[in-house]
Amino acid sequence: TWTTTSVVEEQVAAIREQVGSKRAICGLSGGVDSAVAAALVQKAIGDQLTCVYVDHGLMRKGETEQVEKDFVAATGVQLKVVDAAERFLNALKGVSDPEQKRKIIGREFIRVFEQAQAELVAEAGAEGEEVAFLVQGTLYPDIVESGGGTGTANIKSHHNVGGLPDDIEFELVEPLRKLFKDEVRMVGSELGLPEEIVHRQPFPGPGLGIRIVGEVTQERLDLLREADAIAREELTAAGLDREIWQCPVVLLADVRSVGVQGDGRTYGHPIVLRPVSSEDAMTADWTRMPYEALARISTRITNEVADVNRVVLDVTSKPPGTIEWE
Ligand code: XMP
Repeated sequence: TWTTTSVVEEQVAAIREQVGSKRAICGLSGGVDSAVAAALVQKAIGDQLTCVYVDHGLMRKGETEQVEKDFVAATGVQLKVVDAAERFLNALKGVSDPEQKRKIIGREFIRVFEQAQAELVAEAGAEGEEVAFLVQGTLYPDIVESGGGTGTANIKSHHNVGGLPDDIEFELVEPLRKLFKDEVRMVGSELGLPEEIVHRQPFPGPGLGIRIVGEVTQERLDLLREADAIAREELTAAGLDREIWQCPVVLLADVRSVGVQGDGRTYGHPIVLRPVSSEDAMTADWTRMPYEALARISTRITNEVADVNRVVLDVTSKPPGTIEWE
């Protein structure tokens, strides 16, 4: 029978056997999946693991600080932070196609890791240690949706499965590949991770990059980051964090509509709120959340975020919609 204790013991043993005496690196995304994967591997091999946090500039407000402070405090893990925001922005220049964005972000991610690996190998060089493994928080639904193993059609190439480049040099360690999200949270609790991390709502690896419908630019990122922070703040204040699985906040960057504010006409962008309820992200329903909270989010976003003059609510289930707009 399935227990979190048996999963942890089983995975710790499997990781030790796979990695042996070599070294591993793990990318922290700020989300629960990579945090739990890293904590599991840390438990198995301790200081043979170094976590790498790539700030790709597509993170939400405060996310970098949460990884640097809270996660490190909880696990004592070795962490290397790479600021790669400019590199990702350059690589995404002129690109609007969602799958193209995912491929680019996935590719750049791996390249930044290879760079980090080279640095870590150099640092450990004196001892002749080898960094041979890359830890990823891939879940069972990620594999199913990318067509892995089951031969089903590819729906979206999740950047950590289908979007990997061919020249990958690491052997993957994926201790969560048999688990669903709720099970991952239980394993996280078992490992002693703090509540805020364990019950963190899912956020896609490609980050805000796939929540801007259209080209990704610095200005659009800044705008979306503000709108997202407001929505998250109000959802938390309204006590909706547990009821809502996740709430993508999406910028329709190529759409403009007419509005009026003060004495003047505006011609701004719409922001879409996409609150969904789900068990495992494979299916979802739009959350019938209180109008009062929606009203506060709408008022604040249109007042506080320049160039946004309309907030709309997505009332589509999955299927036929996906949770993310891209
Ligand atoms: P969809 O949009 O396919 O999303 O209904 C299902 C779940 O997966 C997340 N998601 C991603 N996660 N890389 C990720 O790591 C991706 O490219 C990606 N696309 C979607 C999404 O946030 C939801 O939880």
